[in-house]
Amino acid sequence: MRDRGSPQGRRVVLGITGGIAAYKAPELVRQLRAAGAEVRAVLSRSATRFVAPGALAAVGAELIDDEDTGMLHIDLARWADVVLIAPATAHLLARLAIGAADDLLTTLCLATEAPLCVAPAMNRVMWEHPATRANHAQLLGRGVLFVGPGQGPQACGENGPGRMSEPAEIVAFLERLWSETGVLRNIPALVTAGPTYEALDPARGFTNRSSGKMGYAIAAALAEQGAQVVLVSGPTALAAPPRVHRVLVTSAVEMREAVLAHRDGLRLFVGAAAVADYRPETISPQKLKKQADSLTITFVRNPDILAEVAQWQPRPFTVGFAAETEELESHARTKLEKKGLDLVIANPVGEPGAGFGEDQNRVTLIDRDRTVAWTAAPKTEIARRIVTEIIKRLPRNTHA
Ligand code: CTP
Repeated sequence: MRDRGSPQGRRVVLGITGGIAAYKAPELVRQLRAAGAEVRAVLSRSATRFVAPGALAAVGAELIDDEDTGMLHIDLARWADVVLIAPATAHLLARLAIGAADDLLTTLCLATEAPLCVAPAMNRVMWEHPATRANHAQLLGRGVLFVGPGQGPQACGENGPGRMSEPAEIVAFLERLWSETGVLRNIPALVTAGPTYEALDPARGFTNRSSGKMGYAIAAALAEQGAQVVLVSGPTALAAPPRVHRVLVTSAVEMREAVLAHRDGLRLFVGAAAVADYRPETISPQKLKKQADSLTITFVRNPDILAEVAQWQPRPFTVGFAAETEELESHARTKLEKKGLDLVIANPVGEPGAGFGEDQNRVTLIDRDRTVAWTAAPKTEIARRIVTEIIKRLPRNTHA
């Protein structure tokens, strides 16, 4: 058995790209090996200008040749417990962001279900460039883990953010990642996410501005902790996170059915979907034709999935969201009490930089005893912190 918090016996695919910081790669390999990890190194074409393959082999890395003529990328992708790219250049971040697969390293990054962890290294102006900012935000949104970059003097003579983290910091980061993994091992959890779409006729319907990003990030963060996650998702443009079983639905009624289908043994429910409260009373089988000057549509109430789950016996630990445009805390607390929830995550909507569609969010956590407002952060980061809060509150027998 592996010690879950240590690199002992862990398999690290180390991607090295062409930056000056690549000179630190042999020391990184040495420290990973000293901590007990197995290391296979994949060098980008330009990396060999900065680090000699022989120096990596000398400290115990198995060098993988970039000539991928068969299934090498798949074998490596499956072998890895983590894919670590250090140093990661601006070019590499851009290629990851667009999903490039033009060499062994980028191909295996697309093919792996292991966590992808990158340690960027570049000049500070390049790190702060809007193109790199956008790539960084996009990768964070997909759950890529960033270690660094640090601040300090740079090879180009400048001073600022962009220095690759020291090998010891990178190893400590992986130790933290592995010590957190598995707290929710095999706990059945269900997350609803995204909007619902309530049809009016075959061509039209009613929906809302939810992108699904927050719910998907929570599903990914729960899976990182080893939970068995079912993600019941309304229509979104997002890809299913690794190790998450996704069920796609359209309407609130379908979402409720999908939730009910996973009721048995469920220990944690997170309602992050923006479920329509009403749906048109009838769905016209044919496209509605315009006739009178005005049109009246009768809406009927949709089932409240979250409130229903909170009434189940036995019931899972139940977490709801409250999207509010005003009186955030009092409205959210009313939802906690009325629906009988364990925890409510309240977030403002209609403000720039938080809520629907944004990569960032600003949330307030509300449980029976406390209200805690967090500062704005990327949704992936908020999701991990929410999962930590859930773990603290879960009834003891729910833990693995
Ligand atoms: N929710 C649900 N089913 C519904 C409506 C909401 O499961 N039919 C869940 C959402 O997933 C969210 C929480 O309830 O976790 C709160 O959703 P929100 O739209 O903020 O509040 P409502 O309960 O719909 O109340 P109101 O629209 O009056 O603010």
